[in-house]
Amino acid sequence: MAAVRLGDPAGLEDCLSRLVRALGARGAGVRLKDATSGVLHPGPSVGLRSAREDGGHAVPLRVGDETVGSLDLTDLPPDRAADAARAGIALGLAIRTAQLFDGLQARARDLDREVRQLMAMQEIARAVTRVATQEELALVVARQARRLLHGTAAAVVRPGTDGPVVMAQEGTPRTVAWTAGLAAVASGRVQVLPGPEIAVPVPGEDGPVAALVVDGDGGAPADDDVDRLETLGQQAGIALANLRLLEDLRREQARRAAVAAALVHAQEEERSRIAEDLHDGPVQELVGLGLILDALAQELRSAGAPGIEAATRASAAARGAVGALREAIFDLHPMSLQELGFAAAVRVVLQRAEGRGLRTSMDGLDAADALSVPARTVAFRIVQEAVANAVRHSGAGRLTVSAGGDDEGLWVEVADDGRGFRPDETPTRVEEGHLGLAAMRARARLAGADVGVTSEPGRGTAVRLRFPPGSGAA
Ligand SMILES: Nc1ncnc2c1ncn2[C@@H]1O[C@H](COP(=O)(O)OP(=O)(O)OP(=O)(O)O)[C@@H](O)[C@H]1O
Ligand SMILES: [Mg+2]
Repeated sequence: MAAVRLGDPAGLEDCLSRLVRALGARGAGVRLKDATSGVLHPGPSVGLRSAREDGGHAVPLRVGDETVGSLDLTDLPPDRAADAARAGIALGLAIRTAQLFDGLQARARDLDREVRQLMAMQEIARAVTRVATQEELALVVARQARRLLHGTAAAVVRPGTDGPVVMAQEGTPRTVAWTAGLAAVASGRVQVLPGPEIAVPVPGEDGPVAALVVDGDGGAPADDDVDRLETLGQQAGIALANLRLLEDLRREQARRAAVAAALVHAQEEERSRIAEDLHDGPVQELVGLGLILDALAQELRSAGAPGIEAATRASAAARGAVGALREAIFDLHPMSLQELGFAAAVRVVLQRAEGRGLRTSMDGLDAADALSVPARTVAFRIVQEAVANAVRHSGAGRLTVSAGGDDEGLWVEVADDGRGFRPDETPTRVEEGHLGLAAMRARARLAGADVGVTSEPGRGTAVRLRFPPGSGAA
């Protein structure tokens, strides 16, 4: 029977006693109409042997056109019938108000449960990015499940080769929890055991991978509690799958970063080996040759012999070649990058650009020293290429290299006020053998950074390298 809900039956009884006294009757009782079936059921009464005695006086309890029940009075003095009718109206209203209030309270409880379930699901979804392991995520799930059902304990359990493996638990579940959990995984169905013990499957890609179990505190669980836990189990399945994907992604990112670092390292090693070879071999030989040529010119001058001018020119050419080689050595292996920092290395590059007629400036470059050595080397190579491009192609008067950090990470920028170009046409230029910009992008990608080129004809060019937070950390 779907009982009529009454806010406060004790209050109603009290009301009937007063009514009996006030009307001078012997007893009174109410019968209340069932909200769904319309049948009248006995409610509270005072001074009656049964809710309805023969010879009684029945007053319908009406609210507007609706009958909510009946007020039965025994031995009502005949002259009080009108008062009894008035009392019936007041009582009907009171009962209807109580019913409405009761309904509202029930709705508020439902809403509260729905909100709590949504919050639990949100909490689990949010935890995916916060936690590092499946077990940590399972603990969040168990905690939320226990709270949601007001259980005494909760756990996430999965089948292992030697029986149940508890991924996480909140409180201490009864032993029967593990049996219920394994049964839920094996059957893919909700299991409800006395206690109550509720276990719901946590789905994976190919069927249940685990179960979420909650220990209740006596009594049978409500249907909607079981439904809510089942939904939470599904949410846990999605969250665990997302975490696995995220773990794969993190591993892949770490692997790529390691490969990139190894590549950059290998390249730099190779360059520094070539730089050393150049320094120890050709440079020394050319320096020696210059000295021999100087001596020869001296001798020829003392002997008054011809060929002095040719010998002097040859000596100057040897010195020029040494200078060019030293520049190449720096390009190959900028010692100052590690030893004196990013700004010092860039200064050498800019001094050379000044030699080719550009006015240059630097701003905030020390920020780049926060980068790891491989990331800093990548940044330096990109600045080198961007400056070389400005010198060769831009016809600019000014060139600025700057760096800084913000919420989106660390950035380094090379900007000129030259003739500009259309960066979106560079893919075709690659086919023609122009590799600088493409190599810049590839290097940046290897280091987890990216390069943006902003340029248009007549508006100058800005090359901006950006390391997202964490990507180039030292
Ligand atoms: N700062 C700049 N100002 C004007 N044009 C530029 C600038 N940087 C690049 N460009 C244009 O973009 C083209 C591609 O540049 P990229 O560095 O890829 O090749 P490159 O410098 O021509 O050859 P390399 O392979 O030796 O670097 C250049 O040929 C030039 O036309
Ligand atoms: Mg170039």
